Amino acid sequence: MPVSPSDTTQHRSEQPGAFTGRVAVVTGGGSGIGQAIALHYARQGGQVVVVGRTPDKLQRTVERAAESGAPAIETATADVRDAEAVASVIDDVARRHGRIDALVNNAAGNFVVPAERLSVNGWRAVVDIVLNGTFYATRAVAPHMLAAGSGSIVNVIATYAWHGHPGTVHSAAAKGGVLAMTRTLAAEWADRGIRVNCVAPGPTETEGASAALWATPADRARVLGSVPAGRFTTPDEVAEATMFLLEDRSRYVTGDTLVIDGGQWLGRPVYGDKGGD
Ligand code: HXC
Repeated sequence: MPVSPSDTTQHRSEQPGAFTGRVAVVTGGGSGIGQAIALHYARQGGQVVVVGRTPDKLQRTVERAAESGAPAIETATADVRDAEAVASVIDDVARRHGRIDALVNNAAGNFVVPAERLSVNGWRAVVDIVLNGTFYATRAVAPHMLAAGSGSIVNVIATYAWHGHPGTVHSAAAKGGVLAMTRTLAAEWADRGIRVNCVAPGPTETEGASAALWATPADRARVLGSVPAGRFTTPDEVAEATMFLLEDRSRYVTGDTLVIDGGQWLGRPVYGDKGGD
């Protein structure tokens, strides 16, 4: 029996005012998980700037904020693969708001392809977005957070960062790099007030992931069958875990990864009577 997501968890778990006076930058904030993270932060009182390549998509997050009564979310157009553009957006946020408290590196690109058929450009596209893009944005917020002596960075990865998965060599290698980057920076900046952590969502029902990873009903059923809890992760569940890592409640947590996958990476039963069911 799949575990149902509660309709009310989204609001029950929110702490009004937890981020009042604070400013967050969310990359890939125009859809899916990035949009949910932006909305949760804004509903808890924070100012959010969503960064992405496509102004129309970013605008959808602004509209969703208005519909749900959240304060206005700002948008900034930049491709995370362009280090200068990202730095310019982040410096502008710091100049206008006087601070940056949180960065969520959520922008991602993915498609399933056997490694021997992956072109150099395909490899570069994904590694540039996921690994390089995460470093560019992190490098850009660092001077602002270091000067303030505080900040929390959350990187969105996937569990195949450590267990690997066929057909995802570009994404798994990039997410693995982000995990190593997270731990390295957590150690480097722990005594200067900056925390760096990851969230690792399981298969999450978003437009981007569905199109890239389970485009057909058969693929979708196979993915669902791999989740012990029996359903997809919801963007709200990933956002809630991310909020915890951005809040003061997690002030002594750094260099860690919070997995939100219904047990997917632990696997389905293979031994004993239930084996192969
Ligand atoms: C093989 C492909 C391909 C595919 C693109 N390429 N799609 N190769 N199979 N399905 C190759 C192209 O042929 C080209 O190489 C190179 O990749 C770059 O492609 P472009 O389309 O020019 O790149 P670009 O427009 O920059 O797009 C980047 C992208 C795209 C990554 C390819 O899919 C994208 O931007 N996606 C963003 C949204 C997204 O994917 N979200 C899903 C995240 S889900 P050649 O050699 O032909 O020039 C996620 C969750 C993981 O990450 C965790 C699950 C548990």
